[in-house]
Amino acid sequence: MASQDIGLDLGTAISIVYERERGVLLKEPSVVGINQKTRQVICVGEEAYEMIGRTPDKIRAVMPMADGVISDFDLTSAMVRGLLRKVYHRSLVKPRLIICVPSGITDVESRAVVGAALGAGSRKVYLIEEPVAAALGAGMDISKPRGRLIIDIGGGTTDIAVLSLNGIVCKKSIRVAGRRFDSDIMRYIKNAYGLQIGERTAERLKVQAGSVSFEPEEEVEVEVKGLDTQTGLPGRVVLGRREVKEAIIDAAMLIVSAVRQVLEVTPPELAGDIYSDGLLLSGGGAYLHGLDRLLGAETGLSTQRLEAPDLVVARGTALAFDHLDTLVDGFIIPQTHNH
Ligand SMILES: Nc1ncnc2c1ncn2[C@@H]1O[C@H](COP(=O)(O)OP(=O)(O)OP(=O)(O)O)[C@@H](O)[C@H]1O
Ligand SMILES: [Mg+2]
Repeated sequence: MASQDIGLDLGTAISIVYERERGVLLKEPSVVGINQKTRQVICVGEEAYEMIGRTPDKIRAVMPMADGVISDFDLTSAMVRGLLRKVYHRSLVKPRLIICVPSGITDVESRAVVGAALGAGSRKVYLIEEPVAAALGAGMDISKPRGRLIIDIGGGTTDIAVLSLNGIVCKKSIRVAGRRFDSDIMRYIKNAYGLQIGERTAERLKVQAGSVSFEPEEEVEVEVKGLDTQTGLPGRVVLGRREVKEAIIDAAMLIVSAVRQVLEVTPPELAGDIYSDGLLLSGGGAYLHGLDRLLGAETGLSTQRLEAPDLVVARGTALAFDHLDTLVDGFIIPQTHNH
C-alpha cells in the first residue's frame, strides 16, 4: 500500500479530514466533551456537539478553538488526537498529514497541534495557512504571476487574501464569521422579545431564514424556543427573513469593509487581475443567502461562491502535498517533524 497523504482542516467550528482520492473521510464539529472535575476528555466531535448547552454540571462541551484563536491548547490537542484516531485506526501505514490551522494561532499552539497529530500516529506533519489551502482547494493555479482574491468565511474568522506567485501578497483576518452571525441573532431575539435562545438554535435559524439579500425573497417562518427572561419559563417566537437580516446585516457589512481594506492595499497590477477575475468565496459561512451578491454589489466586482464552499479548505490541504517545495507562505512552520 502506498503511503497515505491526508489533509486536516482544523476549523474553529468544523474539522474535516480529507484524502485526495476518497474525499471527505470525516467531518465533525470541533467540540470536546470533558469532565469538569478531572478534565478528562469523554468524547470529541459529533457526540460532544450534541452535548452543547445540554450538559449536567459535571460535564462540559467545549469548542477549544472558538473565535478563531486556540484558547485551550490541551483540549485542542486532545481533539486533534481524538479526531485523527477515528480515521487512523483503519490505516496500516502511518499517514503524512497537512493541517490547516486557524489564523491567529501562535507558534506554541501550532507545536501543540503538531505534537498531537504525531501522537495520533502521523508520520510527518505540515501546517498550512487557511487562505493558501482555500486557494488550492478552489483549483486556483497560484504559481502564476496573477492576482486572485479569496475570501474564506468560516465559523470563527473571515480570512481575506490576495495570492500570486505561490505566496500571499496581502491579507486580513477578522473575527467576524458564522458564529458572530449566531451571537448577533441571539442578542437580537433577547432584545426584541426577551427570549434567550441557545447557540445551536441561533445557528439553525440562520441556516433556515438567514439572508443578507436586498432582492425580494420568498418568506419563511421559523419557530425558535428558549427561555423567556421575563417569566423565567420556556417560551417561543416565530421569526422571518426580515428580522434575521436585521440581526446580521451589520456583521455582514464588517466583512464587506474588510474586503475593501484588502483591495485598497492590493498592488495595482494585481488589482487589475482581480477586476477581471472577480472574488471567490469559500467556507461554510459563504452559504449565507445573499452574501455573495452583497459583496459583489458593494465592491463592484463579480463574486462567485465556490461549490460546496465548506469543503474547499479541506480539499486544499490534501492537494497541498503537490506543493510542499514551492509554496512560499503556505507552510507556516518551516520544520517538518519526523518520528
Ligand atoms: N447554510 C448555511 N447558511 C449559513 N451559514 C452556514 C450554513 N452552513 C454552514 N454555515 C456556517 O458555516 C460556519 C462553519 O464554516 P466552516 O466549516 O468553514 O468553519 P471553520 O472552518 O470551522 O471555521 P474557521 O475557518 O473560522 O476556523 C458555521 O458558523 C455555520 O453556521
Ligand atoms: Mg475554516
